[in-house]
Amino acid sequence: MQQKRVRKAVFPVAGLGTRILPATKAMPKEMLTVVDRPLIHYAIEEAKAAGIEEFYFVTSRAKSAIEDHFDVAFELEETLRGRGRSETLDELRAWLPAAGSFAFTRQQRPLGLGHAVWCARHLVGDEPFAVLLVDDLMIGDPPCLKEMVDAYGKTGGNIVAVVEVPREHTRRYGVLDVVNDGGKLVSAKGVVEKPEPAAAPSTLTIIGRYIIQPEVFGHLENMKPGSGNEIQLTDGLDRLIAGGQPFHGMRVAAHRYDCGDKLGFLEANVALGLQHPTLGGPFRDILQKLV
Ligand code: G1P
Repeated sequence: MQQKRVRKAVFPVAGLGTRILPATKAMPKEMLTVVDRPLIHYAIEEAKAAGIEEFYFVTSRAKSAIEDHFDVAFELEETLRGRGRSETLDELRAWLPAAGSFAFTRQQRPLGLGHAVWCARHLVGDEPFAVLLVDDLMIGDPPCLKEMVDAYGKTGGNIVAVVEVPREHTRRYGVLDVVNDGGKLVSAKGVVEKPEPAAAPSTLTIIGRYIIQPEVFGHLENMKPGSGNEIQLTDGLDRLIAGGQPFHGMRVAAHRYDCGDKLGFLEANVALGLQHPTLGGPFRDILQKLV
């Protein structure tokens, strides 16, 4: 069957980033820098690589730096031009989004991830869409969302990226109730948000990449608060499964760095610093001296 193409992505960026304070007191966590670019920049590049054409941000107060990052910086460009820094100027312009391809809406109250995604319902309309949680930095080849979009071309329905975790960690994640484990792709008969380890249906957990059918908005509209007293996206997905839609977890090739956590953020900086084409070599020398 021909699937409707995934052209739109939602970036829920309204969260406060409390796990990484004080860094995020006055700065959006999505603007934290890994090596030489903010987290949001990696997520946009990943979405572009997957063929996404329209980018929707669900923001909140004090997040304007995200909008500015993807806008023309007139003073900066003039200064660079005046100083003859044309290469830097070209680099800055190369990833500037096409006019009108980005849109921003606000989540007025912190009612949960499900509510944040629901806030983008009018922007998404009636077509499948991707959701990217920016503090889950996914690095690998193929890029995470591209691998999922390619699989979606065959499976249709809904797909989430998954990873196996130690059982004591299930209370941090959405967890799949697995019905058929095909290795790369797993089909699920349910999903549960942050179950206690003893109650978790498996140890296969959702990481922050989703391809979702638009019927989820109707479920989220009427959703009662769930885990943590928040409206959970996972609960909306569970309703889609109950309604008979295909639902797959995908063991993606990309590696996940949890940049919403101090240690994960440090790990990402070291790992990506070592991989950097020009900084990698000298950075390795520095690290060797340090440890
Ligand atoms: C969210 C989702 C959860 C998912 C996780 C991945 O939780 O609700 O299902 O497993 O992201 O990072 P949060 O980290 O916002 O508590």
